[in-house]
Amino acid sequence: MTTVLDVQRFKDEGRHFAMLTAYDFLSARILDEAGIPILLVGDSLGMVMLGYPTTLPVRLDEMLHHARAVSRGARQALLVGDLPFMSYHESPEQAIASAGRFIQEAGMHAVKLEGGGRVVEVTRRLSEVGIPVMGHLGLTPQFVHQMGGFKVQGKTEAQAARILADAKALEEAGAFSLVLEGVPSKVAAAVTHALRIPTIGIGAGPATDGQVLVFHDFLGLTTGKAPKFVKRYANLAEEITRAATEYAEDVRTGKFPGPEHEYTTNGSAPAKDPTEVRYGASPASGGDPTR
Ligand code: KIV
Repeated sequence: MTTVLDVQRFKDEGRHFAMLTAYDFLSARILDEAGIPILLVGDSLGMVMLGYPTTLPVRLDEMLHHARAVSRGARQALLVGDLPFMSYHESPEQAIASAGRFIQEAGMHAVKLEGGGRVVEVTRRLSEVGIPVMGHLGLTPQFVHQMGGFKVQGKTEAQAARILADAKALEEAGAFSLVLEGVPSKVAAAVTHALRIPTIGIGAGPATDGQVLVFHDFLGLTTGKAPKFVKRYANLAEEITRAATEYAEDVRTGKFPGPEHEYTTNGSAPAKDPTEVRYGASPASGGDPTR
């Protein structure tokens, strides 16, 4: 199983690594079996799974619901739960309680939180109680209203210096890694070189130690023009549209279900006619029902 020590080793050995977001049992299992070493249950699920315009409405209970499903599916990956807006802002005590629920109730191994400043003290307290923290600087979507939209950060010298100072403070407070989102490549490179802990970029250029993409962007489930930082590795929206159209047509014309999809009465059943009726996964593939 990948641990936070492995993630540090990746950086020490100069090995670049991938992280992806995951929000449900089956996709977590597929990504885990494909060897993705870190799965992030990101609060981006508010936008790509729940249809909110930002991540701000996402509640801790919603995050835990998805995190539990992911931990039922993954066996090898380091699992990181994203603390949603207002679940760690009131006090370090509130942050410990929220992060503790990710660990105890949802099988996560670490948490992620956004921002510098006061979040540094929260990071220190979480690290002290044994909860590994992934920081997140640059374009921090929970600050969308303060940033005036989802905009690249760190373009001015002052902003870049602030990001570097916050990054060093988070490392000093015990963060085991740092997401850098929506920052110029030059800024991400400077932060990556200045830190001992690994950086993980999204829209931050090639110099970061790791890269992360959102599941739905990565697979082309989001449609329209992709943002500049996204590379689509598949075109699943088109494929789903094709499949749905073909299915509807098969049903309309009577082509589906065919004889191979039917159950028969005992008298006419072939010797090996299966009788199990179950959705999706085979019996061996289910996760731990207590999670
Ligand atoms: O919520 C999320 O998925 C994230 C990643 C994009 C880093 O924060």
